[in-house]
Amino acid sequence: MIRIAAVGDVHMDEDVVGRFRPALDELPDCADVLLLAGDLTRHGTEAEARCVAREFGGLGVPVLTVLGNHDHQSDQVPQVVKVLEDAGIRVLEGEGTVLEFPGGRLGVAGVKGFGGGFAGRCASDFGEPEMKAFVRTTNESARALEAALRGLDCDLLVALTHYSPVPDTLAGEPLEIYPFLGSYQLGQAIDSTPTALALHGHAHAGSERGTTPGGVRVRNVAHPVIKQAYSIFHLGDHLDASEVSGIGHSGIQQSWS
Ligand SMILES: [Fe+2]
Ligand SMILES: [Fe+2]
Repeated sequence: MIRIAAVGDVHMDEDVVGRFRPALDELPDCADVLLLAGDLTRHGTEAEARCVAREFGGLGVPVLTVLGNHDHQSDQVPQVVKVLEDAGIRVLEGEGTVLEFPGGRLGVAGVKGFGGGFAGRCASDFGEPEMKAFVRTTNESARALEAALRGLDCDLLVALTHYSPVPDTLAGEPLEIYPFLGSYQLGQAIDSTPTALALHGHAHAGSERGTTPGGVRVRNVAHPVIKQAYSIFHLGDHLDASEVSGIGHSGIQQSWS
């Protein structure tokens, strides 16, 4: 069995530093790895990235992350990534990694992802160059996720994104903004690989549980959704996603939007 802790949308700044740490200090007792589903910062500044590094660095378990749209806001992505990586937090974008645990080899592939919408209500590659660029970005991100997932030789495969691969976990958000919260192409990428679990954030008002059309379990781990420092998932020895279960962890309550 492999134990995965996950949370997204922690939106760190100076005011938030310290709120997660008491629960994080217990991580080595209950998880093998921590996965962060993007929106680590409020506005994507290097200073906020240093807050993330203070809060999520040196935890005693590997920490892997993708970035979110907020982490891009200040056009300081290279600086943000460097601060995180210097703190031992591995940033995945179109790539994956395999971690060896007593319970097996865990493969994690990550992309930020992008919007675009879902079957029957999605953006199409038609018309203005701006719309084509929007859809191209979505498609490229999904292709990068698929390639990263396919490239991993492991016992259990996890997809980590910021944007959602399914509409299920957006339930609670206004329908009008679904196209800006995720895309079906991410779900297709996941379904084309033996992924056991897909984790994402971004949809603060969404729902926790969903499933891809191919039957892969999807979990929205945005902090405002899970309302705790992190959720823990126990994955069994097989790729069969039926062995996935979410276990709540008593951590901090949501205290900001
Ligand atoms: Fe967020
Ligand atoms: Fe976001």
